[in-house]
Amino acid sequence: MRHLLSIDDLGRDGIEEVMALTDSFVEVSNRPIPKVPALRGKTVAWLFYEDSTRTRLSFEAAARRLSADTMNFSVGSSSVKKGESLRDTAQTIQAMGVDAIVVRHGSAGVPWQLTRWLDCAVVNAGDGWHEHPTQALLDCYTLREHFGSLEGRRIAIVGDVKHSRVAGSDVRAFAALGAEVTLVAPPTLLPASLEGWPVQVSHDLDAVLTTTDVAYMLRMQLERQDEALVPSLREFTACFGLTVDRARLLPDHALVMHPGPMNRGIEIAAEVAESTRSVIRQQVSNGVAVRMAVLFLLLGSGRPEPIVTVPEEVAVHG
Ligand code: NCD
Repeated sequence: MRHLLSIDDLGRDGIEEVMALTDSFVEVSNRPIPKVPALRGKTVAWLFYEDSTRTRLSFEAAARRLSADTMNFSVGSSSVKKGESLRDTAQTIQAMGVDAIVVRHGSAGVPWQLTRWLDCAVVNAGDGWHEHPTQALLDCYTLREHFGSLEGRRIAIVGDVKHSRVAGSDVRAFAALGAEVTLVAPPTLLPASLEGWPVQVSHDLDAVLTTTDVAYMLRMQLERQDEALVPSLREFTACFGLTVDRARLLPDHALVMHPGPMNRGIEIAAEVAESTRSVIRQQVSNGVAVRMAVLFLLLGSGRPEPIVTVPEEVAVHG
């Protein structure tokens, strides 16, 4: 694996490989000093053209726990403000000697474009409405922790699917691992075409909740909506929000997930987000170990040795 651009780059085997490696890095993360020298001498740079809290910090924590050096780039205080092109900015950063660039951009396809211009590894940390593969990997890992396997599990992805790169990657990853995915949204918040998406579609959240194993709530992406796609937020919440009453429809074992940041009181009630069935914080903490696994797979000297030998090697030196 040279880059991580899409969940499709990994397929089922690749996802399983990341999961297995993540187990070892969860162990590292739980140590008193959660640091190993696996990527000493490597440099990872962030190229974030969009705001982010958890994804950027999580990648940064992951790189540091692997002892990589990091270079931070924030568009707001860079030459992008002077009109520098994406290509020039990316090539300038690469010229300083980086081994990987983690990119987030408002336009779909930018990470692919970067691979044509750069020699270093490129990791997609979110491109437009398209994909966000490491979010899907941490979601799979969190589900695997709770259910063992995703095979045959029913997962409802609810809300603003149209603008959600998380949904784009989650659908691919969950389906690759054998889950049955149902998108629940008003027609205006679904992508124009669902051709090739391995999903069912429903507009009746109450009916879906009674039989689902997971209610995966998406953020209402208000900043990406330039037209009125729902009559009002109150109406959206009434039909598609995971309210306290509605959460009672879920089977006892069902989990509630959300990629963050949450709009409390819109797509999810604060009480539900804090309830015992919510694994939202686990998603965040698993994110660091999953991103360690991804960076290690891309940059680790262990390649192409079998991955199972890596943790021991890491443990000896750690
Ligand atoms: C998401 C994103 O930015 O794609 N957040 C995240 O990375 N956890 C989802 C969102 O913004 O709604």
